[in-house]
Amino acid sequence: MKPSILYWSDALSARLSERAAADGHTLVQQILRDEAVPIDTLLDQLAGDALILECKEGQELEDIAALERCTAVQAGLPVMLLAAPRSEALLLAALQAGVREVLLNPPELDAFSHALHRLGKLKKSSNADPQKRAKAVAFVSCKGGSGATFLATNFAHLVAQAHKKNTIFLDLDLQCGDAVYYVSAGPNKSNITEITRQIERLDNKLLASSVLHVAPNFDLLSAPEEPEASYAMSPGQLERLVDVSASHYDMVVMDLERVVNPLTAQALDMADVVYLVMENLLPFLRDAKRLVEKFREMGIEDRKIRLVVNRYERNDIIDVAQIERVVGLKVSYTIPSIFQDVAQAINTGTPLVQVNPRSPILDVLKEMAGELEPEKPRKSETWLSRLLGV
Ligand SMILES: Nc1ncnc2c1ncn2[C@@H]1O[C@H](COP(=O)(O)OP(=O)(O)O)[C@@H](O)[C@H]1O
Ligand SMILES: [Mg+2]
Repeated sequence: MKPSILYWSDALSARLSERAAADGHTLVQQILRDEAVPIDTLLDQLAGDALILECKEGQELEDIAALERCTAVQAGLPVMLLAAPRSEALLLAALQAGVREVLLNPPELDAFSHALHRLGKLKKSSNADPQKRAKAVAFVSCKGGSGATFLATNFAHLVAQAHKKNTIFLDLDLQCGDAVYYVSAGPNKSNITEITRQIERLDNKLLASSVLHVAPNFDLLSAPEEPEASYAMSPGQLERLVDVSASHYDMVVMDLERVVNPLTAQALDMADVVYLVMENLLPFLRDAKRLVEKFREMGIEDRKIRLVVNRYERNDIIDVAQIERVVGLKVSYTIPSIFQDVAQAINTGTPLVQVNPRSPILDVLKEMAGELEPEKPRKSETWLSRLLGV
């Protein structure tokens, strides 16, 4: 797991960080506490998936009160408190604030390891709840010009607007990404390069100050403006970016380069669903087949992949059955070709829904978004509801 630690003692933080690393965890944020900085300010910056909080003797209850405010916002955040001595009143207050572990400060390293392990189990079980975890999806174009960026941007816009999900769009087409222009007047003041430079201190605040607010609930992190500024972003850096995004947003939409490299592999691995966008023309078919084979070699399961045939024209030569046979995957969605609407949307940097709210393309995007909604638990039928038919 990747907890943050707020600490008073450098020596303690170093020892715990070393032990956490030996156990396969990373203390992603190590924040030195300072009497002059209120703890609420520090808690606001949390990026990790758990928190280790060192308390100063005599200030435990103040810290716990601040924690209670914080866990009210970040529900389910696993917290470990390091405090001495552990009075009954303190334990009770900690319990009420949702703290899961209280260790005597400074903790014995073995006790710390065990407590961290227990927090890790907690995190996994809360992640296992599909209602709570942010979804991540990736769009990949089988061949340049398939329509992946157009569909990805409008999909993100729809999820943000119609489903009211707090959505971030990550333009990971680092060489020639231009997604920002599809839904806004672009360009943005900051982009993914800036974030990568400061990845070590990436948190919700830095992310929020780097994105472009395209529409309510819809933020976009653009690709570098100049192609020569493109740089190598490591898979580890991308993992951190997606993790921070997922902790802050409800939906992460990634637009990927077509090339399969360690970076795209990382993104594909983190995506819950991968939309492979193609057309029903022979060159697209060949590339789709090749990509699907690559994906399989990389261990990406077929159940994650959705084959999307864009600009689908009925013709006798290449129909859905033919595509499925050649590519070796079911076609999940077909999208009609509507030049007028799409050209107007792209040329003016306007989301499709504002150009034509009744566009049939939107119907398919809605279906795609609907598929990601967790199934609502069915209301249990009672004799009364059966009788009343409700
Ligand atoms: N359903 C569609 N109907 C008509 N034109 C489309 C459709 N989808 C995409 N296009 C056009 O295809 C072009 C390429 O789209 P883009 O999203 O940039 O492709 P990619 O990201 O796969 O390279 C755009 O200029 C857009 O006008
Ligand atoms: Mg593109």
